[in-house]
Amino acid sequence: MGKITEALRKAADDRLERIDKINRIRERQELVIQKIGDSKVDPRIVTYFDPKALISEQYKILRTNVLSANAKRPLKTLVITSSLHSEGKTITALNLAMAIAQSTQKPKVLLIDADMRRGRVARYLGVEQKTGLTEILTEKADPSQTLFHIDIENLTFLSSGAVAENPAELLASDGMQRLLADMKTQFDHVIIDTPPIISVTDSGIIGALADGVLLVIQAGRTQRGIVQRATELLEQAHCKTIGHVLTNIEYHLPEYIYRYL
Ligand SMILES: Nc1ncnc2c1ncn2[C@@H]1O[C@H](COP(=O)(O)OP(=O)(O)OP(=O)(O)O)[C@@H](O)[C@H]1O
Ligand SMILES: [Mg+2]
Repeated sequence: MGKITEALRKAADDRLERIDKINRIRERQELVIQKIGDSKVDPRIVTYFDPKALISEQYKILRTNVLSANAKRPLKTLVITSSLHSEGKTITALNLAMAIAQSTQKPKVLLIDADMRRGRVARYLGVEQKTGLTEILTEKADPSQTLFHIDIENLTFLSSGAVAENPAELLASDGMQRLLADMKTQFDHVIIDTPPIISVTDSGIIGALADGVLLVIQAGRTQRGIVQRATELLEQAHCKTIGHVLTNIEYHLPEYIYRYL
């Protein structure tokens, strides 16, 4: 892990100072559905603590590449997945959502945790969020009770909620399509974090509803054949893979995203 680990550790060291700074940001009301108090955001969400850090710059490059991936129509809904577990999907999704929200135009961004098996978005944000996507799709809650944000005015979150017994069915339901259609009218960009494609079909199901899919690949671990298999599975599910994010490499977090369209 070398330099990356060092960078992440440094980010953690900087944390207290940054939290102090962040806490002084005045509260905003516009998108506040539920206001979560003092920040307990994980230091690996570097874009939150230090938008000017070298690592944050890499996420900004990723942002630029993602937003320009679709020349004809701006990309609105983006699914993040990977071949295997623990490749860095959620950290990438969170940092990318932050980076997009930090754009000068201040677009309205929603990050949906669609990993209904082991969703971690709320945990990385340091918040306890009992209701989420599961409750919306099982009609136990509606989005207005469930969406939340921390202290970034134009960035909203939907956590995964309780572990669902039948995530694939819920994600394939009309309710999911309606939710996504509704969220697309309310937000400029919807980023969706999902489980790995080789283990379960969830990301393929939701990827087919989105404008594009980003495949996260952990360098030094995930083998070429596995990435190829993941790509095939995404193709079979009618997903449009717009690029790859390489994690776990020296110096930068997401090293590059390349397009092959
Ligand atoms: N760009 C990166 N470079 C190095 N390590 C990273 C990077 N992004 C995330 N990690 C590390 O990888 C581990 C897994 O991160 P994360 O939870 O984002 O993975 P995931 O793919 O969402 O996992 P899961 O399959 O469980 O949902 C964490 O320990 C995190 O610190
Ligand atoms: Mg994850």
